[in-house]
Amino acid sequence: MKERLHQIRREATTLIEEAEDEESLESLRIKYLGRKGELTTILKGVGTLPPEERPQVGKLANQFKKEIEEAIKAKKKALLGTRPLRKEGWVDLTLPGRNLPLGRLHPITQVMREIIECFTKMGFSVATGPEIELDFFNFEALNIPPEHPARDMQDTFYISKETLLRTHTSPIQIRTMTGARPPLRIIAPGKVYRCDSDVTHTPMFHQVEGLLVDRGVSFAQLKGILTAFAQAIFHRDTRLRFRPSFFPFTEPSAEVDIECVICKGAGCRVCSDTGWIEVLGCGLVHPQVFRNVGYDTEEFSGFAFGLGVERITMLKYGINDLRLFFENDIRFLGQF
Ligand code: DAH
Repeated sequence: MKERLHQIRREATTLIEEAEDEESLESLRIKYLGRKGELTTILKGVGTLPPEERPQVGKLANQFKKEIEEAIKAKKKALLGTRPLRKEGWVDLTLPGRNLPLGRLHPITQVMREIIECFTKMGFSVATGPEIELDFFNFEALNIPPEHPARDMQDTFYISKETLLRTHTSPIQIRTMTGARPPLRIIAPGKVYRCDSDVTHTPMFHQVEGLLVDRGVSFAQLKGILTAFAQAIFHRDTRLRFRPSFFPFTEPSAEVDIECVICKGAGCRVCSDTGWIEVLGCGLVHPQVFRNVGYDTEEFSGFAFGLGVERITMLKYGINDLRLFFENDIRFLGQF
């Protein structure tokens, strides 16, 4: 009988070790430990054995029963780790869900919105104008005379003699002033077009125009507003430099530089070792522009500014190639 018990144990441990799934383990359990199982039957029959064999056989049978139970338990655990994640008609509810890719706003759109938010907080409202514009609004009324080089066919996409794709957002200044009386405080975001295409120029880009007209407007106020703007977009300690410049529609005019965002003013390749980077043009509205829209130049004064959104975005995020904005590679766009 002892021999038979050892045989059962040997056979059972091998079969349990070889079992490939929970079903075969369960049938092994029934085969040996079930109500009519081989080991169970021996245990039940211990009482019919000669008295001197009973204690030994009973002890051994109980010990092997425990061992087989343990072996089944251990194998079950091991099988759990190798269980295929998906079986026919069976879903593992503990698996994490699959993430859907999330769309993002284009960096130009994000920065455009940030600029708009910054100025609306300072009391400016948003004005818009058409991308197909009249020569009158784009040039004439802005004090850019017919022979001015800015009108050159090289730069402007003409549609007809009088219509063109706007080359800047400044015509919205004129459209706003002809439709309203001061005080005025607007920004005008939008697409602009120039017949220009190389590493640093694209035929379409984005600008934001600003215009404020009231009584007693000064250059100091312009400086204050633009400083607040640059510090909101770049860094709260950003320093600005106003350089005298020329635009036909402002007098005096200035170009504004910020301290180089890369080297913080120390001098590097990006700022050509000057420590400064140009970010926008501005000035006090030229009296001729006021006369063109019928404003009294004795009563009103104002300031205007215009900035390029691509340029601001490149400086803000340290992007070194303008073309990245237009390729729509989601590996680039997904970073913002
Ligand atoms: N319109 C100019 C351009 O496209 C930018 C500009 C400069 C706008 C000075 C202004 C300004 O309103 O005052 O280059």
